[in-house]
Amino acid sequence: MARQTWGSRFGIIMAVAGSAIGLGNFLRFPVQAAGNGGGAFMIPYFISLLLLGIPLMWIEWTLGRYGGGFGHGTAPGIFHTMWQKNRFIKYFGIIGIFGPMVIFIYYTYIESWTLAYSYFSIKSAYWGCTDQSSMQAFLKAYQGLDGKGGCNFNPTAYFFFLITFIINLWVIYYGIRGGIEKLCKIALPVLFLIGIVITARVFMLGAPDAAQPAWNVKEGLGFLWNPQWQSLLSAKVWLAAAGQIFFTLSVGIGVILTYASYLKKKDDVVLSGLTSVSMNEMAEVVLGGSIVIPAAFAFFGPVGISEIAKSGAFNLGFVTMPVIFQKIPFGSLFGSLWFILLFIAGVTSSISLSQPVIAFLEDEFSLSRKKAVYILGIAAFILCQPAVLFLGKGVLNDLDFWGGTFCLVLFATIETLLFGWVFGMDKAWEEIHHGADLEVPKIYKFIIKYVTPVFLLIILGAWFYQEWIPTIFLSGVLPENKPYIIGIRLILLFLFMTLAVLVKIAWRKRKKELEARS
Ligand code: PFF
Repeated sequence: MARQTWGSRFGIIMAVAGSAIGLGNFLRFPVQAAGNGGGAFMIPYFISLLLLGIPLMWIEWTLGRYGGGFGHGTAPGIFHTMWQKNRFIKYFGIIGIFGPMVIFIYYTYIESWTLAYSYFSIKSAYWGCTDQSSMQAFLKAYQGLDGKGGCNFNPTAYFFFLITFIINLWVIYYGIRGGIEKLCKIALPVLFLIGIVITARVFMLGAPDAAQPAWNVKEGLGFLWNPQWQSLLSAKVWLAAAGQIFFTLSVGIGVILTYASYLKKKDDVVLSGLTSVSMNEMAEVVLGGSIVIPAAFAFFGPVGISEIAKSGAFNLGFVTMPVIFQKIPFGSLFGSLWFILLFIAGVTSSISLSQPVIAFLEDEFSLSRKKAVYILGIAAFILCQPAVLFLGKGVLNDLDFWGGTFCLVLFATIETLLFGWVFGMDKAWEEIHHGADLEVPKIYKFIIKYVTPVFLLIILGAWFYQEWIPTIFLSGVLPENKPYIIGIRLILLFLFMTLAVLVKIAWRKRKKELEARS
């Protein structure tokens, strides 16, 4: 069965940019930036972009295209092709299917809130919740967290989750060219357009509170952009910045590998990879940085914004912004535009998270796309339930830790070492430049071989010490939540083991076929 291919270069760039531009740009970035001191955050952020983000983007585009040439669209097959003598490397590749799946199961749920909130904005459903605390109560009620204990089931939230889930499956059902590419080619330009409209509206806010003239949009931008050199000494800020770069670019987890595996051998990866990074950064620092932060700053001031950012990951987007919309003319319209923007950004990202599983089933088991989508649909639907129903028990945060932190850094380290050291930098350099429209600056040969892996190993070590040990041993988890967290971890372990067994079966099958042929 011939593998699918992208229809056009514009198409794959839009698809990769669509994966990268997501809730991370508009919700996570402002929270990270404001919570880590605004300007203090941006220096480590840009250094991480140059030393981690861009190299990883090139590595994944190159390895994906390389693997696709051998009929593999996921890391087990790609890693094995690169290091055929090693029997175990394919099992490390499982992280590149497992990680995206883990992110998918909580990401889709958050994405569904944005759909619900666009509807609530059109309907002015939260009008009347004019301060932070009443808007917070509205969000909690929606999430089913209003204190009744047990499971957090709210029929309205579940309804929007179902619609979101079905939309995702529907797009991937139509495949790379007919589903993902078609959607992203329209969705991304629309997303930028809405982003520009909202940014323009925010810039017109000026200083909305006459009693606080220093609380204005210009100062809000300064809060994000005035560099603070002392942040270079804070390990916490560095970890947050590097983590944001991974998450926002969708690198280090296997998703871009899969997308790039549908390239043709002579397709360029250097310029295309760089273009997708640039688009993401434009959406993140220009649009993402010009909406929530200056608006929240203008209405709540520098202390207020930092406090809100620290009070919860979703508060700036789902609490502060709705409060602001109620204070401006045509707020219901701008509110719905904001949440539609988030929803579009979310869908084009979540479909990319589901594609590695699909590619794995198609490539390694020769399943039809239809069958692969059915299997993914059933498995993901079951796996989503704990995130939806036990949100208040910390299940979503735990999934985010394993998928969005742990797997990401681990997988990025493995693939970088494989690329620069096992594949070998000379061969890697040649592979990157196949069909390239642009030459990568020579310095990156050195960066990819030494700097990126050392940087990754330091992050891996620091994270292990600071976050992983406490998280792995459940410190800080309320005793009543422990059974839920242990439960979700057992489920994740089961998922990982299932994938390992599938890899084993696929390779045994392939070996038999090769023997029969010779
Ligand atoms: N990059 C997406 C965002 O910024 O929201 C999230 C994401 C998508 C992370 C795909 C990882 C991934 F593989």
